[in-house]
Amino acid sequence: MQNKVTKAIFPVAGFGTRFLPATKSIPKEMLPLVDRPLIQYAIDEARAAGITDFIFVTSRGKSALEDYFDRAPELESALAENGKQHLLDRLKQTEMGSGTVAYVRQHERLGLGHAVWCARHLIGNEAFAVILPDDVIDAETPCLKQMVDAYATTGGNMVATMEVAPEATSAYGILDVGPGSGPTLSVRGMVEKPKPEVAPSNLAIIGRYILRPSVLTHLDSIKAGAGGEIQLTDAIAREISEKDNVHALRFRGKRYDCGSKSGYLQATVAFGLQDPELGDEFGAYLAEVMAARTDDPTDARQVQLVR
Ligand code: G1P
Repeated sequence: MQNKVTKAIFPVAGFGTRFLPATKSIPKEMLPLVDRPLIQYAIDEARAAGITDFIFVTSRGKSALEDYFDRAPELESALAENGKQHLLDRLKQTEMGSGTVAYVRQHERLGLGHAVWCARHLIGNEAFAVILPDDVIDAETPCLKQMVDAYATTGGNMVATMEVAPEATSAYGILDVGPGSGPTLSVRGMVEKPKPEVAPSNLAIIGRYILRPSVLTHLDSIKAGAGGEIQLTDAIAREISEKDNVHALRFRGKRYDCGSKSGYLQATVAFGLQDPELGDEFGAYLAEVMAARTDDPTDARQVQLVR
């Protein structure tokens, strides 16, 4: 029986430059998909996997994120006075218990590996999860829960993976895996952001990890790698060479890259269509837009609408 995974690290210190100017004053993790910020999707997924301790690696300019996890007593009493019980219930669902949230600061943006390493004193000698909130995964069984279930058999370290277009490898950590056709693969090597001509495969790491505490020890001495940054991928690769205990799970679900504008818009459409209150109306609107585009594909305004 493996140790239970109860702690998760959420690296949220990035600038979010792809969403400027919005991210000049709003942390990108606070951008909403319909009505819930990206970070809420990550937290809900963590909770569904049994995570009870939430560690956020933040930086300057992220106070909106810290406020988000606080109670808002004035707002709650105003809602109660106005009989808005359904909104109060919605707030209640996102409440974090006292003492379950911790923040550590990343003083310098030195890379994902460095961000995770900043949380080392809060982890101790136990396995932990890492969730990158940019990667939003829509799945019947939440992705991290699928991983925790697979990890119960494999132990060691585990990353989530999916196939990406071969020309896209330089945007991801890429895996070299052993033979096998099941969802759980044994990982022989991993390399951060390789050019397609040298990539060992087109299986990309997606932002969900279950890691041994020894990865944090590797991060003590890992040198800057791809992009001049301290890479988590390089620390996990060291686990492979020393202990050969890394697995990858081909998760079931659809991943949206909400770190990119296009992925963010796609997720907005997908979650908008799934919304019980909005879905029908929104779907009808999208159908109308698409039909108008088919009627007159050269109409510049329509083309702009659907691109
Ligand atoms: C990070 C990781 C990379 C992984 C990706 C998934 O890269 O370093 O290995 O494939 O997340 O989203 P980033 O997107 O932060 O450049």
